[in-house]
Amino acid sequence: MSVELTKQGLVLSTNGLSAGYDGRAIVSEIAIEATPGKVVSVVGPNGSGKSTLLKSLVGVVKVLEGHITVGENEITNLPPEEVAKLGVGYVPQIDDVFPPLSVKENLEIGGYLLSRNEIPDRIDAVLDFFPKLKSMMTRKAGKLSGGERKMLAMGRVLMLSPAVLVLDEPTANLAPMVATQLLEEFVRGFADHGSTVLLVEQRAKAALRISDWTYVLGGGKVVLSGAPRDLEQNPLFVESFLGGSAAARSSSDE
Ligand SMILES: Nc1ncnc2c1ncn2[C@@H]1O[C@H](COP(=O)(O)OP(=O)(O)OP(=O)(O)O)[C@@H](O)[C@H]1O
Ligand SMILES: [Mg+2]
Repeated sequence: MSVELTKQGLVLSTNGLSAGYDGRAIVSEIAIEATPGKVVSVVGPNGSGKSTLLKSLVGVVKVLEGHITVGENEITNLPPEEVAKLGVGYVPQIDDVFPPLSVKENLEIGGYLLSRNEIPDRIDAVLDFFPKLKSMMTRKAGKLSGGERKMLAMGRVLMLSPAVLVLDEPTANLAPMVATQLLEEFVRGFADHGSTVLLVEQRAKAALRISDWTYVLGGGKVVLSGAPRDLEQNPLFVESFLGGSAAARSSSDE
């Protein structure tokens, strides 16, 4: 690899975090920690506040109470660009690429904090990690398949060699096999490169398989957390996420 893909990870942590819209908290009392070399996941039902939590970490949604730190720096309510400069790369659940622009242009935009002459080497590093994108550089992002589009969305964020990757449901709308590959090869791969990965996933079973630690969000609060193998033994978790109707959903994830 010509230049490093990601930087050595930093600890991302929150305490007493509450955040929401128009001054009304959607998530509250959130204390979570993600550490270098690990995948930490947040799972929870639709509307439990997963995206709101991630957005509050990266300056998109207002923090109402509490603190967020990355390494030595407090990032609470910093604008997104400042959060990015401090090493946090965020891939949103939607609006993750610019559909009318080419793959190459999307990657160039991802490098918006770099000087022009740094960009070609960075693109090479991203293409080494996602070789599938190599043959698609002139294609419009809007014409990519779901899996290719997610690779591009992650590639865009990798342009700035992040220390921390914050990923919001990277497998949404992907076919099960593509989803599994994306999680096991790429998302796990970021952590194995030494970066910090904070992953939101609805596919609880698939998320647990690649996670070192998992937080369960319910009604805007962390209701449970643990190592995946312990959560898998927890009747409450199994009932809510791996059993009943959830079993039907996650078995279709395989
Ligand atoms: N821009 C907004 N303004 C006001 N309320 C919002 C806004 N975005 C989300 N909400 C509300 O916040 C709550 C949590 O939404 P959020 O998108 O964080 O959940 P989620 O866990 O990510 O759900 P999903 O699994 O469907 O992605 C929901 O009740 C939602 O309606
Ligand atoms: Mg969401």
